[in-house]
Amino acid sequence: MSSEVPVWAVIPAAGSGSRMRQDKPKQYLEFQGKTVIEHCLDRLLSHPAIDGAVIVLHADDPIWNELAYHSNKTIFIADGGRERQHSVYSGLTTLQYRCGNDALALVHDAVRPLVNHDDLSRVIAAARAHTAGAILAATQNDTLKLQNDSMEIARTVPREGLWRALTPQVFHLQVLLNALRRIIDDDIAITDDAQAVELAGYSPALVAGNAENFKITTPGDLALAEKIWLNQRNQQDDE
Ligand code: CTP
Ligand code: MG
Repeated sequence: MSSEVPVWAVIPAAGSGSRMRQDKPKQYLEFQGKTVIEHCLDRLLSHPAIDGAVIVLHADDPIWNELAYHSNKTIFIADGGRERQHSVYSGLTTLQYRCGNDALALVHDAVRPLVNHDDLSRVIAAARAHTAGAILAATQNDTLKLQNDSMEIARTVPREGLWRALTPQVFHLQVLLNALRRIIDDDIAITDDAQAVELAGYSPALVAGNAENFKITTPGDLALAEKIWLNQRNQQDDE
């Protein structure tokens, strides 16, 4: 029997998707016969190292129950909050209430349906080995420019050592819970979970992840996600 701490996916899905400008939140838009959040859950819950999921929904979520999503693994539901950080915090408290403190929380946006199993395995392994946790991230390929006030180039920023933070971001439950509690108490705005952990004085590990695991954000992104998804399926069929 394995004595490793369990891994739970915590999936913030309480956003409204304002930049997507559709009649429903982007996690409920469909491609290939399934909603974006169902594609995410399929990828996460079919991974053998993931024990279950906490899905964080808006209090007035109109769609989740209608989906009747089924999995053999346990799914808990939590109530979302004003900003993403409040939603993640809510999901973590639900996880703690249900499972105690001895867990790794794998936080993954409900709108990144293209994460692959190899990246999941590697970020989970890194988080097991690293008290500060670990995140998937992608390197920069383009030259980076800093603008001045007139929208001109002020200077070129060296891209060496710069990464784009993706999700999943995986932390020991108590480390992330304590870090987010501080951020929320002090009313600090953050843009990912690692930032809370960094501000608590830790240095989470960077794990190079596939850039196909992008966040559906603006209207053209749904068609792009479908294209990548089909391509990934064809590659799998060839193996
Ligand atoms: N999210 C959440 N609770 C919030 C805000 C966001 O759970 N109060 C979730 C979103 O549902 C999404 C993830 O956090 O799965 C990433 O956020 P983002 O891409 O910003 O989604 P939205 O906030 O929905 O989109 P927008 O910012 O365009 O309104
Ligand atoms: Mg948002």
